[in-house]
Amino acid sequence: MLATKIFARGFHSSSAAYARKVAVLGAGGIGQPLSLLLKNEGKLVSKLALFDIVNTPGVAADLSHIATPVDVKGYKGTEELDAALQGAEVVVIPAGVPRKPGMTRDDLFKTNAGIVKNLAEACAKNCPKAHFLIISNPVNSTVPIFAEVLKKHGVYNPKHLFGVTTLDVVRASTFVGQVKKANPESIKVHVVGGHSGPTIVPLLSQTGLTFTDEERAALTYRIQYGGDEVVKAKDGTGSATLSMAVAGARFAVSLLKALEGEKGIVEPTFVESPVLKAQGVDFFATKVELGKDGVEKIHPIGALSKYEEELLEKCVPELKANIKKGLDFVKSA
Ligand code: NAD
Ligand code: LMR
Repeated sequence: MLATKIFARGFHSSSAAYARKVAVLGAGGIGQPLSLLLKNEGKLVSKLALFDIVNTPGVAADLSHIATPVDVKGYKGTEELDAALQGAEVVVIPAGVPRKPGMTRDDLFKTNAGIVKNLAEACAKNCPKAHFLIISNPVNSTVPIFAEVLKKHGVYNPKHLFGVTTLDVVRASTFVGQVKKANPESIKVHVVGGHSGPTIVPLLSQTGLTFTDEERAALTYRIQYGGDEVVKAKDGTGSATLSMAVAGARFAVSLLKALEGEKGIVEPTFVESPVLKAQGVDFFATKVELGKDGVEKIHPIGALSKYEEELLEKCVPELKANIKKGLDFVKSA
């Protein structure tokens, strides 16, 4: 007998459990390789919907020839956005413009804030219970924008909204591995705060490794400004796409596994958080345990060295201002 089961969420092989529909909004430099990685996750993903204002039919046709059970469809133009989102349980959002040399992430606000707000409106209408993974910059502001739109629609669930800061820890592992001449896969660095320059706070003291003052200062700077290295090297053609695709897929796969019931999955992510709420910081990245309903447990910052306390002091005012800017954008609309 053909050992195939059909579940309510779609068709998948007998080895699959409850594979889910994932929508990727923005199938550009990040969205395409990220979709490629998710196309290979046949046990966790049943359907992959690629939405963009351009190019998606070709990208989807290309991906659809890869022999995995993930059903890929492309949706192009705002008139197809609702269909892309209907039934989605996880929505990954790398839509928007990337930086050019000399720009800060905040310079992207004027273009990307509106894009993210419109996509959030569509998500609120079509898949309000989904889990939303925000990659579009400036993450420190786009996550509050997304939250505020969902609130306006009465469908905000803070356990389901994530700013993807995984690239910061991916970079931190790489850079520390280079200095320590160790396999980066064996190095875990807790990076807290937000996702831009001084709001990125790497906690090297928690690695258990020792660093000279010079190593610590150089590594901290490199982790905070790693994005600039790529923007400069790409020389006007964009920012990190391939490393971000890996980082974004890592976070999406971790979440999908946790939704399945796998225990003990912890990823850093920028969420509505009690960690620094007393200081007026409503969203903050620390390690977060993921569970069947998204955010399960938000870990504290943990012990800080004097150097890291000073980094955190510099992070707080900038992060607060970025968050406020996002919230005000929706409130004043
Ligand atoms: P890109 O220009 O290559 O792709 C962006 C895509 O978004 C394009 O295909 C564009 O057509 C599409 N788009 C624009 N408006 C849209 C809309 N309304 N709906 C759907 N799609 C729309 O850019 P990229 O390199 O993929 O970067 C995308 C975003 O991700 C940028 O804002 C960038 O700064 C950010 N980013 C974040 C991180 C992170 O760590 N969170 C890392 C790298 C890049
Ligand atoms: C990154 O960290 O690479 C991204 O946020 C893109 C950027 O603008 O640097």
